[in-house]
Amino acid sequence: MLNKITAEEMSQVFSRALQHKLIAKQDTAVIFYDLSRLMARLTNLIDVFPKSALHAIAVKANPLTAILKKINALDVGLEVASFPELRLAEKAGFSPEKIVFDSPAKTHSELEYALKRGIYLNADSFQELERIAQLQARQLSNSVIGIRINPQVGTGHIESMSVGGEYSKFGVPLQQNRQKLIDAFIKYDWLKGVHLHIGSQGCAPQLLVKGIRTVLNLVNEINEGLQRSHQNRQVETIDIGGGLPVSYYQDETAITMQAYQQLIQVSCPELFEGNFKIITEFGRYIYGNVGWVASRVEYVKAAENMSTAVIHVGADLFLRECYNPNDWHHEISLVDNEGHLKRADEKYYAIAGPLCFGGDMLEKNLRLPSIEIGDYIFIHDTGANTLSLWSRHNSRQMPKIIGYYDNGTQFEILKEREDADKLWEFWS
Ligand SMILES: Cc1ncc(COP(=O)(O)O)c(C=O)c1O
Repeated sequence: MLNKITAEEMSQVFSRALQHKLIAKQDTAVIFYDLSRLMARLTNLIDVFPKSALHAIAVKANPLTAILKKINALDVGLEVASFPELRLAEKAGFSPEKIVFDSPAKTHSELEYALKRGIYLNADSFQELERIAQLQARQLSNSVIGIRINPQVGTGHIESMSVGGEYSKFGVPLQQNRQKLIDAFIKYDWLKGVHLHIGSQGCAPQLLVKGIRTVLNLVNEINEGLQRSHQNRQVETIDIGGGLPVSYYQDETAITMQAYQQLIQVSCPELFEGNFKIITEFGRYIYGNVGWVASRVEYVKAAENMSTAVIHVGADLFLRECYNPNDWHHEISLVDNEGHLKRADEKYYAIAGPLCFGGDMLEKNLRLPSIEIGDYIFIHDTGANTLSLWSRHNSRQMPKIIGYYDNGTQFEILKEREDADKLWEFWS
């Protein structure tokens, strides 16, 4: 249940969805989520860390409200990176202390709101800390407050996803601010947590662990500083962020959450001795491998060296992939109009999206079985940071979203295809 969804499984689920008439003619593309797998990933995360940990699942990875409501039934929270994400979390029923508000651009009134509600807050800078201090002086909040630290341990192989290098727009750079950070904890008795997140995909687990170790060393110094100044308190919360990479290749296995926890435990044993509350903020690891997309092939433009299959999703759904094709990859499979897998690699294809620019292209020179109009292309492992980056370019309608359990023995429509009136509202 924790492995990737195979093309065979997708084909079976798709055929069942067709038999149940869940895919109408106008559903030129459909997004699928394997809800059994999603629940297994979450349960595994809960089992691997101490019971007292708060797992704040990153909303940016998947903000679908139907899914947020479902995961609220488990004992997890949400990490929100903007005020509207915070409102989504509240509307989905998450209690304030289970919502972790991370954003480098929190306004005065957003901070005020979060503090009034008792939402967990990670300040991103000393300036933000000062704003919080002013609000705390007026009325002390129940919110637990932490500060984001950039441990400056290095970057991963995707530059735009790496935020733990020498420079980052996030957090307080540690090397230049060690003493200032210790002083802040001595000055503000409501400052109780540290936070780090050094990247999303592309950062090796060892680098993530190095970041945690580096911040823990600081925590030890902060605690010594607090002791020296005769304050009877300690750093209480360590928010280790997310960033555990997943695999987008069918024949490659990624590190498991259990193996990651063990790596952390070896380098940072004090994290598990019961003195700290751990917060995690995983997104991609939870969702990445539990979603996939099916798109009908509308046209096939035949050419000698490389034919082009025109499908119904492109840079609208795969923004990062189309603009940065060297950084991202999804496996692609092909089925006929009844969902049966086509296997033999026969020709080279470009898989082109429906938008009006040349870069709207999922693949080039991909060897696939012969594609016919009416076939469906499956795009694998699209559960994280795909729908949440939906682009309005060319005003395409967001596809229908279908959840399923147990290989499609049970289906649930999570969201209907966006209708033209909603689009009108969006642009009005
Ligand atoms: C602060 C923070 N926490 C958590 C995450 C989730 O990261 P991932 O989805 O790689 O686990 C991100 C992603 O960008 C983030 O910026």
